[in-house]
Amino acid sequence: MAQSPTIAAIEQALSTVMEPELHRDIVSLHMVKDIRCEGGAVSLKVVLTTPACPLTGRIETDIRAALVDQVPGVESVSVAWDSNVTSAARGLPGRQEIPGVKNIVAVSAGKGGVGKTTVSVNVAIALAQAGARVGLLDADIYGPNVPIMMGLHDQPQAGESGKMLPLSAFGIEVVSFGTILKPGQPVMWRGPMLAKAMREFLYEVEWGPLDYLVIDLPPGTGDIQISLAQSIPLTGAVIVTTPQDVSIADVSRGIQMFAQLRLPVLGVIENMSGFICPHCGERTDIFGSGGGRELAERNGLRFLGAIPLDPGVRVGGGDGQPLMVAAPTSLTGRIFRGVAELIAAEVSKENYAATGGPQMPSAPRIPIRG
Ligand SMILES: Nc1ncnc2c1ncn2[C@@H]1O[C@H](COP(=O)(O)OP(=O)(O)OP(=O)(O)O)[C@@H](O)[C@H]1O
Ligand SMILES: [Mg+2]
Repeated sequence: MAQSPTIAAIEQALSTVMEPELHRDIVSLHMVKDIRCEGGAVSLKVVLTTPACPLTGRIETDIRAALVDQVPGVESVSVAWDSNVTSAARGLPGRQEIPGVKNIVAVSAGKGGVGKTTVSVNVAIALAQAGARVGLLDADIYGPNVPIMMGLHDQPQAGESGKMLPLSAFGIEVVSFGTILKPGQPVMWRGPMLAKAMREFLYEVEWGPLDYLVIDLPPGTGDIQISLAQSIPLTGAVIVTTPQDVSIADVSRGIQMFAQLRLPVLGVIENMSGFICPHCGERTDIFGSGGGRELAERNGLRFLGAIPLDPGVRVGGGDGQPLMVAAPTSLTGRIFRGVAELIAAEVSKENYAATGGPQMPSAPRIPIRG
């Protein structure tokens, strides 16, 4: 009878399995826990850097192949999943970390109306559906539409500490500038005033704990946007464009703004990319498509996905039922989920790069069990 595999041999084989995004093996990243082996049955747990990991299927296939190919006597492999979202102190001047908030992702656009709020809301919901703890801050003074899209009508209350309590919808904590602007009030605020209000929203709200705080920024690259971006301890920004706005100038200015502020751009999303006929399913590129990908590639950024023009997005957004709630398994829903997963992956990569090494909290050596 074949000898039962040793934990050391199993660990050795697992150290040949790479985390596809971080390009380092899963053992030295401290992602493997609880290795057990009974007879030829191996079980182990993989602790991911995000519950919205796009690559679990690939990692599991690689683990199975490594164990079966490299360790004599392995008959079956059972992989359990867990996650612990990473975070990294950025040390950005004048921007202290927000207690309880691990990562902040800003959604920005070169101009209005391209679907920034739609992306913010649906990505936030997709991350929460994957199991992450998520907040959404609507910082778009020009069009604070998040409460409408999320069907929120209440005023936020103060908690026991005196700090504002976020509202809650679809498992997400939500705070909006809309609640402090009177309806129809023109935007007379200047950058520094807004930056002050932003700091209050960030630091005087009882957030969390949160894995991801998504911020819907006002469109454009003027003083207001710069002041806001400068007042947030951002992990990174994503840029939303439509195919026809890939009037390179707009979006390139956005990319430049973040570069000047030394804030990472996590990637580019092309929204309203082709129309999928709800009757026949045929795709028509009304505004063209592919410009977002080209733009991303030209700037060395990740292309995070192309979201089609889908009547379900607008209808859902108008009546407080975002697409990720009304139709999460539709084609557009699956695309949003893919975008959210790539954003989460980029956040993990940023954190990994910012710390120069593995960031799994209190990562002990794998306990060797016999
Ligand atoms: N992929 C899509 N398919 C269909 N409709 C969409 C899509 N994306 C956005 N819309 C619709 O387009 C309009 C503008 O979208 P949204 O409000 O998200 O853009 P925005 O960039 O946040 O705009 P603003 O600059 O006004 O804040 C909304 O009515 C929204 O429902
Ligand atoms: Mg908006």
